[in-house]
Parts: sequence; structure tokens; C-alpha cells
Amino acid sequence: MGIVGAGPAGLTLGNLLREAGIPCVVLEKGTREYIETRPRAGVLEHRAVQMLTEHGLADRLLQEADRHGACEFRVNGEAYEVDYATLYDGQTHYIYPQQEVVQDLVRHYVDERGGDVRWGVTDVQLHGIESSEPALTWTNADGTRERLDCSFIAGADGFHGVTRQSIPAGAVQEFSHQHGIEWLSVLAEAPPSTHKVIYALHPDGFAGHMLRSSTVSRYYLQVPVDDTVDNWPDERVWSELHKRLALRDSDWKLTEGRIVEKRILDMRSHVVEPMNHGTLYLLGDAAHIITPVGAKGMNLALHDAEVLADAVTRYHRTGDETGLRSYSEVCLRRVWRAQEFSQWMVFMIHRSPEPFLSRLGQARLEHLIASGSSAGYFAQNYVGP
Ligand code: PHB
Repeated sequence: MGIVGAGPAGLTLGNLLREAGIPCVVLEKGTREYIETRPRAGVLEHRAVQMLTEHGLADRLLQEADRHGACEFRVNGEAYEVDYATLYDGQTHYIYPQQEVVQDLVRHYVDERGGDVRWGVTDVQLHGIESSEPALTWTNADGTRERLDCSFIAGADGFHGVTRQSIPAGAVQEFSHQHGIEWLSVLAEAPPSTHKVIYALHPDGFAGHMLRSSTVSRYYLQVPVDDTVDNWPDERVWSELHKRLALRDSDWKLTEGRIVEKRILDMRSHVVEPMNHGTLYLLGDAAHIITPVGAKGMNLALHDAEVLADAVTRYHRTGDETGLRSYSEVCLRRVWRAQEFSQWMVFMIHRSPEPFLSRLGQARLEHLIASGSSAGYFAQNYVGP
């Protein structure tokens, strides 16, 4: 198998295939250091951790990750906690930054299982994906051109990667939606000011306080569409976070720290159907983009890797193609479930330019807080399913 991209999806697939004794090569355009330090998501679901554990990939995660079973919504200066673990079988989230997941996956794949990764490759090309003998060609970091003939190609090279773009026009359907919202995403060397993820609704827009480690925290601010990072000097970021996260009649305080990253995130959803074409199988962001709301992206990528590894292993052992044929359908069921939930949350926690819609969102949140069945829906989708 040729795997393009050494992110959570590609590396998990590589590990599972090595475990099953199936030869594979991973191509990655970045260096090992680059992918091991690039900050991204930070939340793993119970199910994803269970899968990593079953395959011996969760050793450090289980020791170091914090487990979270409750989150907090703030609205009109009041805090409301939702104890989603109690509402859903005791299942929790694990707070473990994506770059730590990647470090562990690389260590297992390369250092312990002797897996092959080509770092710093360029000009990756796919050949014969509509045949049973596809191939990958690429230029290595030392300038040599190389070719891999394989049975399958896994496209795990992200939204802008070459693999999805190699599918002929019209062969797959693409569903795209811009949610009309943007976030300023901020990473700071600041200890968390909370033990739970905080979602705050404020007349000026959403603010979030998310968790990474005892020394680093992630914050989000809803900003107007087409806003730029230049409009957000550090002092403005902190004053806006203080204002939107404020609690009435409380001595809660936000601790500041050095801001190390600021980015504008487009709230976009994108799904490719089906997730395969010929002998090319797409995984993770190459096949589907989801908004960060609900923290589903990395979890979906790991699920794709698990389903594809199972399918390829079954085919390799017995020639049975059932899993390969149902790969896209099985993954897309979870993808669309997550898209629907993320959209439900996006609507609930943001201020819309249309005041009527903002009030509907607030009504949704009030119902979540007041109604056991709404809280049950939230819990099942947030930490599961
Ligand atoms: C995050 O940790 O970045 C995060 C957590 C929960 C969300 C969104 C983002 O809903």
C-alpha cells in the first residue's frame, strides 16, 4: 500500500498495516520535526482511544492525557455545566494535542515497527488509480525520483493534497458548505483557567476556552467573515476574551500568557462521495472537512484509518473484498452524523448577523440546559457515538 501523508490518518493506517504484516510506504512532504511539532486539534473521543489501545498505540496517551467528562456553557454571564460522561455511559474525552498523537504514531511506526516513511518528498504523482496496479512516483529529499507499484493508494494528505485532485472530474460528488462564520484561533503559553472546555455566547460573538496542557491553552473568538489576523493585536485578543468569557458575581479570572499562534479558521464543511475511486481510498481531511466545533476532525480521521486497515487486512488474508467495497459507506455514515452534530452546535453557540437566528441559537442552548433529552442528544454525539 502506498500512503500519501503522515498525519493521524496515514500514520494510524501505517501502524495497523504493519501490525497485520502488510507492506506499506508513507510519503510525507514535511520533515519529521515539522509534523511532530505542528499544533492542531487536541481532543480524542473514547472510541478513538479504545481503538488506539487495542493496537498498542496508546501507551503514553493513557498515562499523560487528561480525561474530561463535562463542559461548560456561558450565557449572559451565567455558567451551566453539562456532565456528558454521566449522560453517556461514563465515556470521556481525552485531552491530548494532535502533535503528541503524531509523535506517538511515528515512534511506533518508524522506531518500533520498522516502518518506511519518506520525509520531505515533492512532486508526488498517482498513476493508474482506475486499474488494479496503481503506482506512486515522487522526488525524494535528495532529488532522486522514485516509483512504488502497489495494490492500493491511501490518500491521507489533507484537504489541499494531491490525491483527491487526482480523481477525474465528475467521478465523485463534492458537498461543500461555508457556515458564514470565522474563528480567530489563538494558542498561548498560559495555564488553563478552567478544568472544562468553555463555550461562551456573548452579544459580540462566541468565545471558547479549550485545553491543551498544564502550560498551554487554546482560545477561539468568533470574528467577522473576511477578518484578518492583523486586526487582532494581542491586547485586543485578551480584552475580547476577558469580556466574552466574563461571569457575573464570580471571582473567576482568565490567566493570560504569551500568544504563540494566531490563525483565522474558516468554518467550512466539505464531503467527498464516495471516499474512494478505483484503487485510491481517501482518508481524513482529504475526504472530509468539518468545522472545529465539537472537535470531531481527528476522530473521524482515525476512524477512516481503522476501517480501511480492517478492509485491506481482510482482503490480504482471504481475498474478500467486502470491506473494501463498503469502506466509503461505513465511513460516510459517521462523517455525516458528525457533520450534522457540528452544524447543530455551530448554530447554537454563534451570533448570527441575523438577530432572529441568534435568538433561535440561544433557544437551542436553553433547551439543552433545561431538557434531559436534549442533553442526552448532545452527550451521545459529543463524546460518541
Ligand atoms: C479544541 O480543543 O480545539 C476544541 C475543543 C472542543 C471544540 C472545538 C475545539 O468544540
